[in-house]
Amino acid sequence: MDRREFVEACALGGGSLAATLAGNTWAADARPRSYGRVLLLDERGTPLKVASLKPQTNYVFHYPFEATPVFLLDLGKPAAATQLQTRDRQSYQWPGGIGPRRSLVAFSAICAHKLVYPTKELSFISFRKGAATNPQTPSKGNDLIHCCADHSQYDPARGAQVLNGPAEQPLCAVLIEHDEKSDSLTATGTLGGELFDDFFRKYEMKLSLEMGPNAKQAVSRQATVLELERYCRNPVRC
Ligand code: FES
Repeated sequence: MDRREFVEACALGGGSLAATLAGNTWAADARPRSYGRVLLLDERGTPLKVASLKPQTNYVFHYPFEATPVFLLDLGKPAAATQLQTRDRQSYQWPGGIGPRRSLVAFSAICAHKLVYPTKELSFISFRKGAATNPQTPSKGNDLIHCCADHSQYDPARGAQVLNGPAEQPLCAVLIEHDEKSDSLTATGTLGGELFDDFFRKYEMKLSLEMGPNAKQAVSRQATVLELERYCRNPVRC
C-alpha cells in the first residue's frame, strides 16, 4: 500500500477502497454559488469576533454541508484579488481577503487532487505557518496549505492557487462576509471548482456510518469554528 492509498484507507475508516478509486467528475462551472447564510460561532456558541482570531492559525468549520470542512485563516497580511482557473479551464476571479485588513480567507478543506480532508481523527491537509521543514517536501513559499498525501501545496494568499504537487485546480473558495458593526463573519457561498459531488460519492459509506443522513444536509444558520488542533487529534505535518 503506497502513501496515498494509506491516507485514503485511513480516511475511509475501513470503507470500500474500490469506491475511493472511482473516477472523479470535476466541476465544470466556476461561477459563485449561493448557499444558506451561516453565522460563524466560537466554541462557546457566541458569534465569532474577527478580533479574536489568531493570525496564521488554522481554523475549521463545516459549510455548506454538515460533512464538508472549510479552512478559515487570518493570513496576517492583505490578500489581493487573483485570477484563477479550474481544471476544466473555467476562469474566475477570487476577490481576495476580507475584514479590517483584508486578510481573512476561507477555502474548502477538500484537497483538489484525491479529496483528502481533515477528520476528527486525522488530517493530512493543513495550513503551515512559514516554510515546510521536511526535506522531502520542499516548500514553494511560506504560509501555504500543504496536503501531505501527495504533496500538493496551495497558496491561500492567492485564492489557494496550486504551487506544487499533483492537484490540478485551486481549492474551492468559500465566500464569507464581515459585519463591521458586530465584527462577525457569515459564510454565504462558494466560488471556483466545487468537488462536493465527488466527495460524497467517494466517502459515501464512511460518511453514512459516521453521520447517517446528516452528512449531505446543508448547514443551517450557524457553524462552530475550531482550531484545527482542537478539531483533529492527529494533524499530520510533512
Ligand atoms: S490528496 Fe493527493 S495531494 Fe492531496
